[in-house]
Amino acid sequence: MSAIATLLWKQRLLELSHVEALEPTIHSINDNLISAILTSIIHDSQKHATLLQALVDVESGKIKPKINIENAIEMAQAIEEHVKVEADMIDRLKSLLERTEDNRIKNVLNYILLDERRHHSMLKRFFDLLIQEDLRYEKYFDLDLFRTQT
Ligand SMILES: [Fe+2]
Ligand SMILES: [Fe+2]
Repeated sequence: MSAIATLLWKQRLLELSHVEALEPTIHSINDNLISAILTSIIHDSQKHATLLQALVDVESGKIKPKINIENAIEMAQAIEEHVKVEADMIDRLKSLLERTEDNRIKNVLNYILLDERRHHSMLKRFFDLLIQEDLRYEKYFDLDLFRTQT
C-alpha cells in the first residue's frame, strides 16, 4: 500500500471509531432532536468512511476506469431523474422555511437544504459530464463534484 493509501486507510478507521464512540452517547440522551443530530453525525462519519474506502481502492488500483460512451448515456438517463428530485426537494424545503418562525425547525431545515443543494449540484455536474459528446475518462478527474453551486 502506498503512503497516502495507508494514511487514507487510517483516516477511515478513525471515522469508524468515532461512530462506535458516539453510539452509546446517543442511546443515553433523552432528547429526540439532539439524538437525531448526533445520529446524522454518525451517518456523516459512515459516509466519510465509505468515501475514504473508495479513495484507498483508487490509490491501490482496485478501481478501473469504466465509463464508456454506451453506459454513460444509460447512467445519464438514470441520474437525470434524481437531479429533478433534488431540485424539487430544494423548492419544498424553501417553502417549508417560509412557513415557520421556530428556530429549531429553521436550523435543521437549513442544514438539510445545504445537503440537498450539494446533492443537486453533484448530480447535475455528473450528468453534464456524462452527456458531453467528447466524453473522456480524464475529464472525470477534473470534475469538482463537491463544490456547491449557488
Ligand atoms: Fe468525518
Ligand atoms: Fe438529497
